[in-house]
Amino acid sequence: MSAFDITEVGKYTPDELKNKTLVLVKPDAFARKLAGEVIGRFEAKGFGLLEVKKLRLTKAQAEDFYSVHKGKPFYEKLVASISAGPLVALVLEVPANRDTKGKTAVEVVRLMVGSTNPSEAAPGTLRGDFGLDITDNVVHASDSAESFVRESKVIFG
Ligand code: CMP
Repeated sequence: MSAFDITEVGKYTPDELKNKTLVLVKPDAFARKLAGEVIGRFEAKGFGLLEVKKLRLTKAQAEDFYSVHKGKPFYEKLVASISAGPLVALVLEVPANRDTKGKTAVEVVRLMVGSTNPSEAAPGTLRGDFGLDITDNVVHASDSAESFVRESKVIFG
């Protein structure tokens, strides 16, 4: 049985959700053999790996995943790129014995990921160290607990 039953995610309290987030190693980064590096960064930081899943999104799943961006000029390209090949999805958790001084998993992970445009992302961040392209920007990370719940349902069903 899985350590983290994503179908139960709706039952998490707001406090429990603060410790969790979703990261996708995007298809371009997966093809560039960066999955191990990305996972290693989060492990070295101290996150627990609740889920690690390799999958390929259908176009319909990709449209659902990025539905908040529907209508934006970059939407079609984004959907094509995230469904172009296999990706690795991670559910990360801050272990219960770690004191983040109120910072959520979403916030800590987004700091590690860096600015959306890798060409502007700080060195030391994943996008700053491994990307040059705004669409194939190495990883996606949930931007809120609500996004984590919605996005996780697309990935894990
Ligand atoms: P991601 O974190 O996956 O969330 C939405 C994605 O849209 C973002 O990373 C980028 O890959 C992509 N994107 C492409 N163009 C833009 C843009 N101009 N502004 C924001 N995001 C963009």
